[in-house]
Amino acid sequence: MTNSKQNKSKKILVAFYSRDGHTRKVAKLIAKRLNADIDEIEDKKPRKGLIGFLIAGYDATRGKTTEITFSKDPSDYEIVILGSPVWNGRLTPAVRTYLLENKEKIKKACFFVTCGIKGGKALTQMHEIYGGEVLGEKVVARKNLEEEARRFAEELKSMI
Ligand SMILES: Cc1cc2nc3c(=O)[nH]c(=O)nc-3n(C[C@H](O)[C@H](O)[C@H](O)COP(=O)(O)O)c2cc1C
Repeated sequence: MTNSKQNKSKKILVAFYSRDGHTRKVAKLIAKRLNADIDEIEDKKPRKGLIGFLIAGYDATRGKTTEITFSKDPSDYEIVILGSPVWNGRLTPAVRTYLLENKEKIKKACFFVTCGIKGGKALTQMHEIYGGEVLGEKVVARKNLEEEARRFAEELKSMI
């Protein structure tokens, strides 16, 4: 099936940032279940290693933006499902930047975050930055990652 033939004919994009692969895994699962396009947001700032980890947490806590790249135009889609890891209880700089740059282009949104234990303020921050209609949201804890991701995908499927 081509990407233009999507769930109930709606054009859906799953956009995400992932440092360590968990958010990517959830994004891929959702995209597959909803027959959506997928776009990985890249953070140009190095985030690997101990220093990268410490700076990542600091940047998230301070609400910093960063330099990002991505390839799909969200205005081409009816719904954008946006995913981020939780860093220090907050939204990642990459997804913060994506939302700030694209909030006018996102018609309807769904949000999810992946975390070790707790989602903290990350989803609330996404709502605040976006300010538009949010159809669904989910905190996906790493412990039951695949099961929770599948459940969220099914919820979305029945909703959109
Ligand atoms: C810098 C940093 C800070 C984190 N802070 C939290 C946190 O406050 N709460 C939490 O439950 N998990 C926290 N985590 C764990 C991540 O949210 C979790 O592993 C997430 O699934 C990672 O997504 P990714 O693999 O797509 O990068 C943190 C991870 C990193 C790298």
